[in-house]
Amino acid sequence: MSQPFLDRILGGVSRDAFRRQHWEKEPLITHGPLSRFSPLPELVDLGTVEALTNRYRSPIMVLGKLAIRETEGISDRVSVLPGRALDLYREGATLEFDCLDMFVPEVRGVLEQLSKDLGVPDGTFGKAIGYLSAKGSGVSPHFDAYVNFVLQLRGTKKWSLLKNTTAEYPLEHYALDELPFVPEELATYWSNKPPANYFAEAKDVVLKPGDLMFVPRGVWHATEAGEESFSVNFNFSVPTWLEVALASLRLKMAGIPALRALADSTPSNQDGARAALAAVLGSPDADALLRLRTEEYDRYQVAGAVFRQLLKLDS
Ligand SMILES: [Fe+2]
Repeated sequence: MSQPFLDRILGGVSRDAFRRQHWEKEPLITHGPLSRFSPLPELVDLGTVEALTNRYRSPIMVLGKLAIRETEGISDRVSVLPGRALDLYREGATLEFDCLDMFVPEVRGVLEQLSKDLGVPDGTFGKAIGYLSAKGSGVSPHFDAYVNFVLQLRGTKKWSLLKNTTAEYPLEHYALDELPFVPEELATYWSNKPPANYFAEAKDVVLKPGDLMFVPRGVWHATEAGEESFSVNFNFSVPTWLEVALASLRLKMAGIPALRALADSTPSNQDGARAALAAVLGSPDADALLRLRTEEYDRYQVAGAVFRQLLKLDS
């Protein structure tokens, strides 16, 4: 297939139209033959629970009700060893294979190609996640801080989507069942009007093999597999201007001894830090602060990826 991967999955939608109408705005769903996801469908051995757990060679995340049971109500996600993941999957769980690109070269190839086609800026962290869902399992309503391309490879999965009028351009993941708790930073732009009756308000979409769905950052979503389902999601944590500016500010401030001093309450220590801060913030240099850098900005995602790399067992 000579057509770039992005154009194949966008169907008839041009890259320009995708940028204008979908990138930070609306979900996009396109339909087509499974073969347009080449080389992913050729991974015939991938997509069964035994094959994936063998290939993955790392602890596996279990999502949903069975994770709540396993953690005695503490969390709806829990990381378990492959044997336990197999048991829970057979009991009806959804399994998440985070950073699947680290384990499957074909998936890594698609991630790199998509990243190139999209022209994501320097500092973007991209990864692929495989979701294997037993019939009836899924995830509860939440939104993510990354953009997401969902490629449905096997089975069907229902997505319940809802526009986010509660927290525009979110900087973090948030699940509706965390209410009434709202993290401190999210609270600075939280409208106080979260969905009251999520599934009545949401729009349902059922993805079939060969379907692509693009989910912009921040769109509320919940999923439920109609039958055993396998999908691969490619997501990109694109830096926000806030992250770009803060990274630059940190570099500027790191050179100042008074700010590298340990924060304690002695007056002279505080005065030194106050004076240094005033010197930096009092003379803003917007161009210098808005310079993109090559390292990834999403430290949470990067730390997770590094952790998985370290856990990888020798083949
Ligand atoms: Fe999500």
